[in-house]
Amino acid sequence: MPQFAPLKNDTFLRALLRQPTEYTPVWLMRQAGRYLPEYRATRARAGSFLGLAKNPDYATEVTLQPLDRYPLDASILFSDILTVPDAMGLGLYFADGEGPKFERPLRTEAEVMALNVPDMESLDYVFKAVTQIRTEINGRVPLIGFSGSPWTLACYMVEGQGSREFHTIKKMLYARPDLMHRILEINATAVAQYLNAQIDAGAQAVMIFDSWGGALADGAYQEFSLRYMQRVLEQLQREKDGVRIPAVVFTKGGGIWLDEMADIGADALGLDWTVNLGRARALVGDRVALQGNLDPAILFASPEQIRAEVERSLTAYGAPSHGHGHVFNLGHGISQFTPPESVTAMVDAVHTFSRRQRAG
Ligand code: CP3
Repeated sequence: MPQFAPLKNDTFLRALLRQPTEYTPVWLMRQAGRYLPEYRATRARAGSFLGLAKNPDYATEVTLQPLDRYPLDASILFSDILTVPDAMGLGLYFADGEGPKFERPLRTEAEVMALNVPDMESLDYVFKAVTQIRTEINGRVPLIGFSGSPWTLACYMVEGQGSREFHTIKKMLYARPDLMHRILEINATAVAQYLNAQIDAGAQAVMIFDSWGGALADGAYQEFSLRYMQRVLEQLQREKDGVRIPAVVFTKGGGIWLDEMADIGADALGLDWTVNLGRARALVGDRVALQGNLDPAILFASPEQIRAEVERSLTAYGAPSHGHGHVFNLGHGISQFTPPESVTAMVDAVHTFSRRQRAG
């Protein structure tokens, strides 16, 4: 059992548990990434994205980079959701400038029947990175572990790459729901084991990225995505050494299903920028905390506009006396073309304005 330094800033964890905080904590999806010149330098040394992600020393280095630049309230493991299907033997690769692909996507019944929960040993590089990052953060802020949702992983496993329309997987969903459910069941077990191993290695909160749940029809979302995220949550260890490990669920495009999402056992829901924070809070009540949801495109505007949008967002959420439970974030990952100074303005605005709000 690794021993870690005590946590100096637990604002993020308290907000996820809807406990009072002195200000609204903030972090950014993809906060370690190509918009940072120091990330690009490390990536060049590593040779490729996978070279970075599969090497715990490099993964630790880039995870810490945004923390050294900005007073963020959480860090997130540098890795990718596609490590799990890669460990299932599908052969993850990145074609230059084209995003992730699989050499052996799941298309036939025989391929689906041959799919298995991967041996977690094959993902040991991820758990090593978690422990090393947690050690080197030295208690500055909590470390978030993460996974893709069973459905979102299945999208890449069946399509073999990203997609706009998801024709291949939707055809399987409607024509062979039995095959679809088999993949999702295996994915749910794999994701639960993967997150539990990250928690054992030192992750202090976990987040499930359901990036493509919003591509589903009403009804299909509940059956093929939400239900399997609930299965993951049911199998998760929610406490480690007597400390609660909060779980965040984020369906991009899931604003219309927040009411149902609030009942699957998550501590918090991630929101994209289409959602009004105040209305979302009224809808979910005290069931879950909320994380989000500034449009990442706002970071291309001036510092004054960024400050105004942050203020608008915090005002929409409402005064803290009405209940805490907000973690500020973007509504999706930060763009690689974002000027790094925009993040400085955003983080400062969140901290400054939310303190002022609490002072009344
Ligand atoms: O938030 C963080 O800083 C942690 C790191 C992280 C990455 N991917 C690093 C990454 C996280 C949490 C992810 C999750 C992820 N990966 C998701 C879910 C979140 C979302 O964005 O909806 C998805 C769908 C993926 C799959 C994936 N990986 C895609 C589509 C791409 C290409 C993206 C692009 O902009 O080119 C990746 C590669 C990837 N994962 C990069 C990073 C920093 C870019 C790789 C590079 O350096 O070239």
